[in-house]
Amino acid sequence: MTIRQLIEEGAAVLRRAGVSDARLDSRLLLQHVLHLDHAGLISRISDEADAPSASLWRSLLDRRAGGEPVSRIVGLRGFFGLEFEISPAVLDPRPDTELLVERVLADYGESAPFEFADMGTGSGAIAVAILANRSKARAWACDISPEALQIALANARRNAVSSRLVAVQTDFFDRLEGRFDLLVSNPPYIGSRDIASLDREVRDHDPRLALDGGVDGLDAYRRILAEGAGVLKVGGRAYLEMGAGQLAQIEALAVSSGWKILGVHRDIAGIERVLTLGLQPV
Ligand SMILES: C[S@@+](CC[C@H](N)C(=O)[O-])C[C@H]1O[C@@H](n2cnc3c(N)ncnc32)[C@H](O)[C@@H]1O
Repeated sequence: MTIRQLIEEGAAVLRRAGVSDARLDSRLLLQHVLHLDHAGLISRISDEADAPSASLWRSLLDRRAGGEPVSRIVGLRGFFGLEFEISPAVLDPRPDTELLVERVLADYGESAPFEFADMGTGSGAIAVAILANRSKARAWACDISPEALQIALANARRNAVSSRLVAVQTDFFDRLEGRFDLLVSNPPYIGSRDIASLDREVRDHDPRLALDGGVDGLDAYRRILAEGAGVLKVGGRAYLEMGAGQLAQIEALAVSSGWKILGVHRDIAGIERVLTLGLQPV
């Protein structure tokens, strides 16, 4: 069969399985198997695919039809124009999280050096994206999961920023030493009982440790807001990603922990997604 026929066959299989971007996913999996980018695939669209590649592609198609995201199957995800390795130990970085990176880059220019902690770094997406765009910045990438930290380090190497990233295995701030200009975090924020009703792509493939924010989804914010000020320099700021509908509760927690609200930023869907906080003068 030709590459074009395989793409169509795969699209039909995925459509029947209820996958929304069926044709795109069929093509992406074929590109992965054939080691081709989009342009390369198009240039060979009328060629016959070799049988071993077609058979491998069919097995990947089955996984996609069973609900596994393409990024998980190929082990890679694009984020902020960079490529990240992902594994079962890390959250698949989301496009929404790019907003947090954008806000940091808008406030911290290229001219001055700054040091920041990324609490719950996972794949390192936030820390690596900031470092790749700010050559004088240095990051302390923190996670409780040693497996996640290995992936974050691999992504720092992949994107040529590893000389400026330190990995710290810590339960929130317990083992993080130093004072930083900035704290960033996309913490686990799904209520424990809500996890079962998430899409299968998320529920069955993102690690529970990356999702579960406790009974009301806010446990990580309680820790970060209570303890985060202790690792910031005077004038330091925090940038937190939030789940839909969590703003009022997180703002209240922040104010009661002594933070000043500096800004609220909406994602492209109009959801309040990033909260910027400053330390109150003492
Ligand atoms: C929602 S994921 C975010 C991953 C990544 N920063 C991103 O935005 O794609 C939350 C991360 O917090 C980490 N985490 C969960 N509990 C933690 C804790 N007690 N201390 C430090 N990190 C924790 C998880 O392992 C996970 O990597």
